[in-house]
Amino acid sequence: MQSVENEREYLASLLPERSALLREMRAAAALPESYAPIVAPETEQLLVTLLCLTRPKRVLEVGAAVGYSAILMAERLPEGGSVVTIERYKKHADMAVDNIFRAGLEGKIKVIFGEAAEALSWLDSGFDFIFLDAAKGQYIEFLPELLRLLNPGGLLVSDNILFHGMTGDDKNVQRRKITIVKRLRMYLEAITRHPLLTTSILPVGDGVALSVKKREEESARNANEQKD
Ligand SMILES: C[S@@+](CC[C@H](N)C(=O)[O-])C[C@H]1O[C@@H](n2cnc3c(N)ncnc32)[C@H](O)[C@@H]1O
Repeated sequence: MQSVENEREYLASLLPERSALLREMRAAAALPESYAPIVAPETEQLLVTLLCLTRPKRVLEVGAAVGYSAILMAERLPEGGSVVTIERYKKHADMAVDNIFRAGLEGKIKVIFGEAAEALSWLDSGFDFIFLDAAKGQYIEFLPELLRLLNPGGLLVSDNILFHGMTGDDKNVQRRKITIVKRLRMYLEAITRHPLLTTSILPVGDGVALSVKKREEESARNANEQKD
């Protein structure tokens, strides 16, 4: 039996290898001159598993960066599936468009260049799966539009909600991050108490919240239970 000394390294060794393009993108995004934050590998595998489970047709991503997670998700959608991804930083949006073209997925992924709050306000509803991975302090501001855009039964996946250990422990909070932490805590309270959502928070990667939008009958049942 192979000896195992470090749990994180051991679990990382079990993650599947990605395509040559995704490996190249991850390596390039880690270079200081082109730094772009990309979903943590264990969160990436959670995303893949959730896509297998939910088989969404329409996916919305808030925060494309260079297009890594958009490509990962689009490759796993059923026939006719599509991804819309929003990015406000021009350099990242352009790199995402290039990478999506290299992946041959330009027919499946649409990149919207712009501020998410604005784009979310004009997008049509009907998404089965939303991956929220943009500025953490804005999650609370995005929530009403995300709820409008998500189909009943759809899944909202919010990344980095533990924010390097700061959300759950005041001792870890850096002074200049206080406002972001406060707003992330407001977001977590909102999604865990929202009557339309069933939420679970997982300490995977930098923390991931999974929120399912209730179907009408579930909302009605919950309302009746609260009256009783
Ligand atoms: C963590 S990265 C996204 C990583 C990407 N999902 C991946 O795993 O490949 C966050 C990105 O969101 C973008 N972003 C942050 N806040 C935004 C906003 N309000 N509107 C649009 N894009 C935003 C940033 O410019 C950055 O490129």
